[in-house]
Amino acid sequence: MLAPKPVPTNDKGFAALKDAIIARTGHHYYVDKDYLLRDRLDRRLAATGCASLADYLALLGQPKRGALEWQELEAEITIGETFFFRHQEQFAALRDVIFPDLIRTNTHRRALRIWSAGCAVGAEPYSIAILLERLLGAALRDWTIEILGSDISARALDQARAGVFTDWALRGMPAAERARDFTAMPDRRHWRIADRHRLRLRFVQHNLLSLPAEGGSADWAGFDLILCRNVLIYFAPARIAPTLSALSHCLSPTGWLMVGHSDAIAALPRHLRVVELAGTMAFRRPDRSEAAPPRFPWQPNLLRPAEASGPGSEVRRLPIPPLPPAEVSAFQPEPGRRTAPPLAVIRALADAGRLTEAAVACRLAIEAAPLDARLHLYDGIIAQAGGDGAAAEAALRRAVYLAGDLTMAHYHLGLLLLDGPAPEAGRRSMAQVIRLCAALPQDAVLLESDGLTPRELVEQVRLRLRAWRG
Ligand SMILES: C[S@@+](CC[C@H](N)C(=O)[O-])C[C@H]1O[C@@H](n2cnc3c(N)ncnc32)[C@H](O)[C@@H]1O
Repeated sequence: MLAPKPVPTNDKGFAALKDAIIARTGHHYYVDKDYLLRDRLDRRLAATGCASLADYLALLGQPKRGALEWQELEAEITIGETFFFRHQEQFAALRDVIFPDLIRTNTHRRALRIWSAGCAVGAEPYSIAILLERLLGAALRDWTIEILGSDISARALDQARAGVFTDWALRGMPAAERARDFTAMPDRRHWRIADRHRLRLRFVQHNLLSLPAEGGSADWAGFDLILCRNVLIYFAPARIAPTLSALSHCLSPTGWLMVGHSDAIAALPRHLRVVELAGTMAFRRPDRSEAAPPRFPWQPNLLRPAEASGPGSEVRRLPIPPLPPAEVSAFQPEPGRRTAPPLAVIRALADAGRLTEAAVACRLAIEAAPLDARLHLYDGIIAQAGGDGAAAEAALRRAVYLAGDLTMAHYHLGLLLLDGPAPEAGRRSMAQVIRLCAALPQDAVLLESDGLTPRELVEQVRLRLRAWRG
């Protein structure tokens, strides 16, 4: 048996390094995996000859060598598991619904723009190239197909450009089909993708965390299809909503967005339409003809990640919009005097990305009205957006204790628990949401739901439960 490793938190440099890594890559995943992170850092210490983690952190801060070393570290700490045609039901939806729709809508210009965001060594975008060739057949030569693969890991992208894969990466493809798209290498364990696919793809290094700040740039606009699968699961909750929202702004008006089954369905951009497909789902912009855009319950709008950007982060600090003057004047915490702010101020602070202030404002309001279940509900939503799951759960439990019929409190608690270590409890909260909704008039507006009716909320619960089971 292997001896346990020394506790990494004893090393003074570890906490600072861990913070810098999470801030730069979004990999909140490491927040409770010190041994795993330490193991990966040890490899970089050995490779660079640094004597301590503090030395290594200093190296990362150097202008030239630091940038190169960050690339090595990013390659070391990212998890690049991928294979061809991963999640068959999503590829079936691409084959049967999404590409037929895109081909029909874009026939006049015969062009498609596709982005695989977080593509690792390229199995996902190459699968798309293969699928499109199968679908378009000889007509492919009349189309301009741009397939872009991006990833934070430069090492993964080098492999993607080389286009050589192991048997293991091809496990999602029937052996009989491989011969059409790959050539076996002499060792018979590696396969090279055909040049006609390889030359169609372009790979660029890109950190998804910088996307909210790049919004509007032509490089990242007009995509007919964006796949961002099995990437957001590693991110801190507060990073997921802005990233998804920014991705949705990169879609063409008729474009489709697909995320992995475990990627953050709770943080869906509010302005997107959910399209249910056999065994999976995808997202689109709302039809112009639709009478009303889909509604989602309130969550802080973190598109302006003022508090989210940390050391080494590539997310620029964006200007925080001023709060409405009337609302601000209602909340002037003076020394010695504790003024309870109204809910509008709490929400405006959270929407401006000022989560800490929003949380403080909420606590002040709770001090003034401790039995107001709505305030505990907002306290929970804000804590959740800030990545503090334990505080969020406690606040939401207080809300349901104080008002057992506050449907939105059960809903948010359900979302939180479904993603946590006790998902069965989350399923029970969602069952309670369905029960409460069934007892209400279906066109009523639910309290603290931002306009949702019971019918709309139940639809969201069903989608969420399906994603959880999937
Ligand atoms: C598990 S792989 C998923 C690959 C592929 N999308 C799939 O589903 O098979 C996750 C990939 O996301 C990349 N990634 C992680 N954080 C990223 C970030 N902040 N920006 C861009 N890519 C990132 C990792 O380097 C890794 O290659």
